[in-house]
Formats: sequence, C-alpha cells, structure tokens
Amino acid sequence: MSSIDDARRLVAEASSIAVLTGAGISAESGIPTFRGAGGMWGNFRAEDLATTEAFARDPKFVWEWYQSRRVEIARCEPNAGHRALVAIEEQADEFTLITQNVDGLHDRAGSKRVLKIHGDIWMTRCLGCGYQRINRDLEMELPPKCGECSGMVRPGVVWFGETLPRIVWEEAERAVNRCDLLLVVGTSAQVYPAAGLIDLARHVGASVLEVNLDATAYSNAVDCSVRGKAAEVLPLLVA
Ligand code: OAD
Repeated sequence: MSSIDDARRLVAEASSIAVLTGAGISAESGIPTFRGAGGMWGNFRAEDLATTEAFARDPKFVWEWYQSRRVEIARCEPNAGHRALVAIEEQADEFTLITQNVDGLHDRAGSKRVLKIHGDIWMTRCLGCGYQRINRDLEMELPPKCGECSGMVRPGVVWFGETLPRIVWEEAERAVNRCDLLLVVGTSAQVYPAAGLIDLARHVGASVLEVNLDATAYSNAVDCSVRGKAAEVLPLLVA
C-alpha cells in the first residue's frame, strides 16, 4: 500500500496521463460490479447473456437483460470519482481515459477523450447492415429491429469471446505507450486484453498508480497502490 501523498505526487508530476477504469468507479453511483461481493455476474451466468451464441439462441432474453441494465443505469448519476477524472483531464498536458465500462457515466460527467474498449450500452448495431447509432430508448419493443433494413439489432457492447473494436483498442495502446503515468481505477484487472495495458505501461517505463477498494493481482507490481473508494480517493489526487 502507498500513501495518498505518493499518489498525488505521481499525478502532479505526470505530463501524459492514461487512465484505465473498470466497474469499481461506478460502484458509488449504484451500478453493481461484475466480481466480488454483490458482483453482477454472481446473479447471472455470463455465458447465458453476454455471448453471440446466447444472442443467436434467444435475442429477446438477452435484450431484456440489457434493457433492465439500461433502465438501472439511466437512474444513476456520475459520482465524485468520475468528476475528479474530468478535473485531471483539464490539468494534464495529454490525457486519455480508457474505460472497460459501458455505462456512459464518464461522458455524462464531462470527460472528453474517452476510449470505450468494451463498447457502449447506449449504442446499438444492426447485424444485417451494420448500421450503428446512439439509442437511448427504454421502451422499445424487444428485440429491436433496424430502422434501415429491418435486420436484428444488438447491443453495442463487446461480448465474451469477441475481439475488441480494433481502432479504439489501437488508440488505447498508443496512449499507454506514450504516457508517463497510467492510473488504474476500480478494475479487478482479470480480463484481458484490457489488463494487459498495465503490463504495457510497465514495459514502456511509465509509472502505474492503482486505486481500488481491494488488492488485485497487480497491487504489488505497481508503483503506488491506494486502497479506498474511487469516489473518495480520486478527488484527493486533483491538484
Ligand atoms: P470487476 O467487477 O471485475 O472488478 C471491480 C473492481 O472494482 C474490483 O477490483 C473491486 O475491488 C473494485 N471496487 C469495487 N468498488 C469500488 C469502489 N467504490 N472504488 C474503487 N474500486 C472499487 O470489474 P472490471 O474489472 O471492470 O467485460 O471487469 C472487467 C470486465 O469484466 C468488464 O468490462 C466486463 C466483465 O466481463 C465485458 O463485458 C467485456
């Protein structure tokens, strides 16, 4: 464990900052995490929901689950952790926020440069013609049909076994390659390739600062690991 002063110094001294966030940053907004106590995947079998096979088998069932998440997320607000990252972005010379979250709370908080490597629950994509759009309809008939070609529409998120959106991922790698600090917030760092960004940062000689309620597999390997809630710790890192 490291002190908050060490963490503040790392942020203050960095000119190029990359941030990797996970479900933990939205926990204080009321959105359940995937793993650990109260974790969402504890209540649902991921393989029943977040795979192309599951969607092919029962698109209505999968959509109902995503729509219930969308309804839940729509009621939530960004928290002090999301807002602190906006302030850090405003102060940094160079800044990229890479998020595994699909909830859109970084956008709503006001972050500008956000790379959503696992997609966005507020986007939909047609399996027929590929048409993608922002879709915030919480009352649409499920499963929704494409307005362009009447094809089957899926949530714009990355499912288990799928590759990440290539351009977004390559941008994330570039941001980590040139950063001098990677700030890792609220992720169990168990899902790859996302967690591999931490290895990449260490490989290129960037400092790594972790903020998490609990220890992770990376806690002993990073330069600074602060235990605590993102909504409480991140505001302390703003100069
Ligand atoms: P996890 O649920 O695996 O991990 C959440 C992390 O947040 C844990 O390490 C908790 O200790 C930490 N945490 C919980 N509350 C916190 C708080 N208030 N402040 C700080 N930390 C807190 O979520 P992710 O690591 O984001 O992928 O999961 C990664 C991916 O696994 C997700 O993007 C999703 C899932 O499968 C896809 O959907 C492709």
